[in-house]
Amino acid sequence: MQYRLNVNGADHNVEVDPDTPLLWVLRDAMNLKGTKYGCGSGLCGACTVHVDGAPVRACMTEISSLGTKKVTTIEGIGTTAVGKRVQEAWLKIDVMQCGYCQPGQIMEATALLAKTPKPSDAEITDAMGSHLCRCGTYTRIRAAIKLAAEG
Ligand code: FES
Ligand code: FES
Repeated sequence: MQYRLNVNGADHNVEVDPDTPLLWVLRDAMNLKGTKYGCGSGLCGACTVHVDGAPVRACMTEISSLGTKKVTTIEGIGTTAVGKRVQEAWLKIDVMQCGYCQPGQIMEATALLAKTPKPSDAEITDAMGSHLCRCGTYTRIRAAIKLAAEG
């Protein structure tokens, strides 16, 4: 089936089955490889993107469920004020190790700060708790979120 999808502010036409996960539409049909495949089961957060500004797991989101909703990926998040601040904080704190989980972490952190500009420790834990990092960068992620929250 043909779908028209708005990703990072631009419309794209793709021809895929209705149950195709958004993750594979982004990576395979649109060549947006920043969104990562981790578990494929909604458990790790590596595939997190925004749909109408809210974080979703692209591996669990069928393209047929999106309709006219707008998708933002790690390739586009830096064009928003909060996303830019989060990316700058990530670089300043030097959060990344292998980097594999970091696009998903940044998307989740940006959604958190867009909704809650000064999150408490508990709110950060709540938002980021289901994102797994095999390199164990959790302490630096928390520090970067706090730095980005300073504005
Ligand atoms: S790849 Fe989607 S949550 Fe792990
Ligand atoms: S930085 Fe390696 S998995 Fe998170």
